[in-house]
Amino acid sequence: MSQRNETQALDEQSNASKTKATDMSSSPLEQLMTYLHDDMQAVNDTILSEMHSDVPLIPQLASYLIASGGKRIRPLLTLATARLVDADIKQATLLAATVEFIHTATLLHDDVVDESQERRGQKAANLVFGNQETVLVGDFLFSRAFQLMVKTNSVEILRILSNASSVIAEGEVLQLQYQGDMSINWNVYKTIIGAKTASLFAASCEVNGAILKDKDIQKSLSEYGYNLGMAFQIADDTLDYDANQEQLGKTVGDDFREGKITAPILFALQNASDDEKAFWTRTLVEHNINDQDLKTAQDLILKHKGLEQSKQLAREYAQKSSQSIHKIIQKNDNNRELFDMLCVMPEYVVSRLA
Ligand code: IPE
Ligand code: IPE
Ligand code: MG
Ligand code: MG
Repeated sequence: MSQRNETQALDEQSNASKTKATDMSSSPLEQLMTYLHDDMQAVNDTILSEMHSDVPLIPQLASYLIASGGKRIRPLLTLATARLVDADIKQATLLAATVEFIHTATLLHDDVVDESQERRGQKAANLVFGNQETVLVGDFLFSRAFQLMVKTNSVEILRILSNASSVIAEGEVLQLQYQGDMSINWNVYKTIIGAKTASLFAASCEVNGAILKDKDIQKSLSEYGYNLGMAFQIADDTLDYDANQEQLGKTVGDDFREGKITAPILFALQNASDDEKAFWTRTLVEHNINDQDLKTAQDLILKHKGLEQSKQLAREYAQKSSQSIHKIIQKNDNNRELFDMLCVMPEYVVSRLA
């Protein structure tokens, strides 16, 4: 994609959400996108300019994913929490682009590891450009993210984001080790999702406390993001059995086919009969899966109320997340409108469809 086309794609995306967000029925995410439209534009400009390289395949592959949509939830959280606590917006813009780069790098790597077919409603980059190319461009985006965060001149910010990056990698490795392993328990599952997803949500918010050099705000922002991220990943794991593929923009049932044991299956396993245990062992452990098995897995999850209970678990994290944002507003009541949007975000991520 040329730079003009990339810019157009990013503009269209933010204008589309602007139009939708004027409608009262728009989601908190769309409302946030409208409220932060100009700030987000600056983030998109930073993303576009920082994605460039003299090696043409790098911007080509990176823009294939970056300009193809995505909710931009992490950079929106960085901008929204920056405006909420009145952190320097130039620093926050840089950091919002940084967290989206880290997120994009993890998606490129994750899709190679998961052998994904689809991402954001289009063919996954690994299928279009190849596994080696996708991994290496992911490495480039990780490194570029570090170059960006260095510009903040803050060792504390470097600490937060470098910790998050290594913890994400640990989460992905741990998840791989437990693929097809029915000895996984709730503690391990929560460690995996805390590492691979919640850590970046936490860091996306926490960096603003570091800009302000206010430890209390930093802690509350980190807790807000962490619990929001936990709720978000449990919702994602639920959608993998629930969603219709067009809404999701990725293939339904991927976790099942890969032997990833997530919340809906953990609930179904709790009271499984011997026959049901044999089914899960054949499919998840022995990886012997036929065309009807996803439907059977979905039926067993429904029978054991796995989706309902997963949503309830996600809701518990969402409530913790809301409590943390309340702690901040008690200290700093300078933006009620943003506070309201950030307050409903946790419940929204639980009830989202995609
Ligand atoms: C996908 O994240 C990876 C997970 C943590 C589940 P998002 O759902 O935020 O992906 P995009 O950026 O909107 O495509
Ligand atoms: C997301 O996990 C993990 C990271 C992005 C590090 P998933 O594997 O569940 O994400 P999707 O379902 O592919 O988006
Ligand atoms: Mg995946
Ligand atoms: Mg998933």
